[in-house]
Amino acid sequence: MKSRGNKKTVAVVTGSSSGIGFETSLFLARNGFYTYATMRNLAKSDSIIDLKQKEKLPLEAVHLDVTNDKSIKEAIGKIIHEQERIDVLVNNAGYALVGPLEEISVQEFIEQFETNVFGVMRVIQEVLPYMRKQRSGTIVNISSVAGMIGFPITSAYVSSKFALEGLSESMAYELEQFGIKVVLIEPGVIKTNFNKNLRVGKMVASTNDSTSPYAEITQKRISGFIPRFEMGSAPKKVAEAILKAIRSENPDLRYMVGGDAFRLMEIKKNTSDGEFRKLVMKSVLR
Ligand SMILES: NC(=O)c1ccc[n+]([C@@H]2O[C@H](COP(=O)([O-])OP(=O)(O)OC[C@H]3O[C@@H](n4cnc5c(N)ncnc54)[C@H](OP(=O)(O)O)[C@@H]3O)[C@@H](O)[C@H]2O)c1
Repeated sequence: MKSRGNKKTVAVVTGSSSGIGFETSLFLARNGFYTYATMRNLAKSDSIIDLKQKEKLPLEAVHLDVTNDKSIKEAIGKIIHEQERIDVLVNNAGYALVGPLEEISVQEFIEQFETNVFGVMRVIQEVLPYMRKQRSGTIVNISSVAGMIGFPITSAYVSSKFALEGLSESMAYELEQFGIKVVLIEPGVIKTNFNKNLRVGKMVASTNDSTSPYAEITQKRISGFIPRFEMGSAPKKVAEAILKAIRSENPDLRYMVGGDAFRLMEIKKNTSDGEFRKLVMKSVLR
């Protein structure tokens, strides 16, 4: 990104009440970006506002629910009214729906996409006219290693992140002519509230004594999440990767974050699909 001299560089981050969004909003503000930490529930803004005040950070909390057109229009409208520009958009808001495909309803699958895919699309469509007019801007989409590799009992989440990968890779071609850059961040497991915010499908058998043919694998997968997330990388690592990408004149399209993500991708590259599936199943059923 070109330096803007002593003019403000404006960043907007979705899902800033927790985890990666919270750390990224703070980190960007600490690094001089005028940051709009957006969230769907402003009652959760106390901690970030406390830090803003203590550290005198250029940061504001603004209401934005990525599933609600009106809230997106109002938030982006307010930011443009105040700053007349948006230099960085970080599409971070998201959650994971858990369950085997057969026990997930189409409605639940649609809701997963409403947040993780159409939510991103809505915010991008609202911001793009301003970035095009500026002839600059960086759009950062928080994907996942699950945007590159499939995993059992999370097909809805995985397909939402695969969709985000395709969306980002394709729109990068269209936006280059306007000086707008597109970046995908692909974290491995990150220690946030993601695990607590997982949604288990209503028809999903999450106990072993269920008659569901998927009960065992579902239960093992769900109970495996807790130790995995305990060992996850710090969300600040993701914020650092985002800052590196947006400061770069020529950012890469993809940035992986976390040793686990690099290790998995390396194994995937050097293993047949069948062998890789066996390895994943062994690790899930352990
Ligand atoms: N943690 C990981 O291991 C990991 C790995 C790879 C990728 N990711 C991705 O990283 C992103 C952030 O997740 P996280 O790990 O930081 O989890 P988190 O701590 O659960 O944070 C998720 C954030 O998204 C917000 N959100 C959910 N639905 C929203 C909506 N409709 N509108 C606006 N905000 C909404 C949540 O708000 P509320 O507080 O109101 O619920 C929260 O602020 C997600 O896209 C996730 O897929 C996470």
